[in-house]
Amino acid sequence: MYDMAAMGAWIEFAVRWVHVITAIAWIGSSFYFIALDLGLHRDRNLKSGADGEEWQVHGGGFYHVQKYLVAPAQMPDDLVWFKWESYSTWLSGFALLILVYYLGAEFYLVDPAVADLAIWQAVGISMLSLAFGWIVYDLICKSKFGDNNTRLMIGLYVILVGMAYFYTSVFSGRAALLHLGAFTATIMSANVFFIIMPNQRIVVADLKAGRTPDAKYGKIAKQRSTHNNYLTLPVIFLMLSNHYPLAFASEMNWLIAALVFLMGVTIRHYFNSLHSRAGNPTWTWLATALLFITIIWLSTAPMFRITEPEEASGPALRFAAAEGFDEVHDIVMGRCSMCHAAEPSWDGLLWAPKGVRLETEHQIAKAAKQIYLQAGVTHAMPPANLSYMRAEERAQIVAWYQAAMRP
Ligand code: HEC
Repeated sequence: MYDMAAMGAWIEFAVRWVHVITAIAWIGSSFYFIALDLGLHRDRNLKSGADGEEWQVHGGGFYHVQKYLVAPAQMPDDLVWFKWESYSTWLSGFALLILVYYLGAEFYLVDPAVADLAIWQAVGISMLSLAFGWIVYDLICKSKFGDNNTRLMIGLYVILVGMAYFYTSVFSGRAALLHLGAFTATIMSANVFFIIMPNQRIVVADLKAGRTPDAKYGKIAKQRSTHNNYLTLPVIFLMLSNHYPLAFASEMNWLIAALVFLMGVTIRHYFNSLHSRAGNPTWTWLATALLFITIIWLSTAPMFRITEPEEASGPALRFAAAEGFDEVHDIVMGRCSMCHAAEPSWDGLLWAPKGVRLETEHQIAKAAKQIYLQAGVTHAMPPANLSYMRAEERAQIVAWYQAAMRP
């Protein structure tokens, strides 16, 4: 049978696979070049006229890398560019955003207890905010304010904290942290696409035409590339955060996100110093640990926000009205809600796993597809069938979901 929900889940898995692969390629090459650049020996008066060199060994061979400041006297014909790592990460990430958060907006993006948005409004805010982020960032970098690197970094940090607060006041906690990651990653990819690559092309064209390239292009690219360096680790944290309700489901989630950016700076500073042989600033790990402990503490702060409606409403109505809902409601209450509750009664569980709560009609109807996939099509839930779900009950879930999906 042609099963849209299962197809959807597989497409999502495939796109996520691509996204992780491209992100590894992007971050891998970027970290490699950062370490290489900082670690170059610049004191060797190289015959080639290069500014620095490094010897490396990897995979059974020795590599001798030399860096030319601005450019070599003669332009090589076959120059390897590094750009698709970044573009493909952004493209696959945006595809994943559509699949998970736009198509599953009701479950993942919109939280009526935070802001009662229609799906089209939420999707509009999401897309506009990503574009707006890049435009504002780029304008600030190019303005007078951007002349001083430290001042610029502090200004950008204030914007990121503001966005963290904004996202947590329009989207579900899970979507908010993910969007902050997407906002930051969009700036990073756009830096490559709109600034770093075009500037490099200008330099290459100048050299080919026998002109001396203006050093300002390299300087601008370097500034953007430094931002990308410090933003990488927080972005990965934010992308992974949706697997950890403690990070996103707390009302302090925006503050947690703000501290994550500082952890990114302290960790990167340590490695940057190490690569450049400028020392071994172990104090950064103390700072990182203090930030992390503060995050852990914030994540368990008491909540004061009102909860979701009891009765199904909005798009969840379709599933609540479908044949078999009453039985499924009873099944879920009996087999799932001991774990999937705001205060689970299952021994040892302190919060709803993955933030999935299945206690009210609204929550159950809203999670229809997840229930269908996790407990109907597959036997992923209950884990190890701990609550003794019977085969007829799974069949009832499948029948109910399919009845609701029939036009
Ligand atoms: C014994 C406790 C327990 C019971 C009972 C239970 N779950 Fe879960 N559920 C978990 C845990 C733990 C996870 C997190 C699994 C993980 O980390 O991958 C989870 C995760 C989930 C998720 C999120 C999956 C994801 O990857 O996003 C859904 C949806 C879900 N459960 C639905 C159900 C349904 C429906 C039932 C009842 C049929 C059920 N669960 C019963 C413990 C339970």
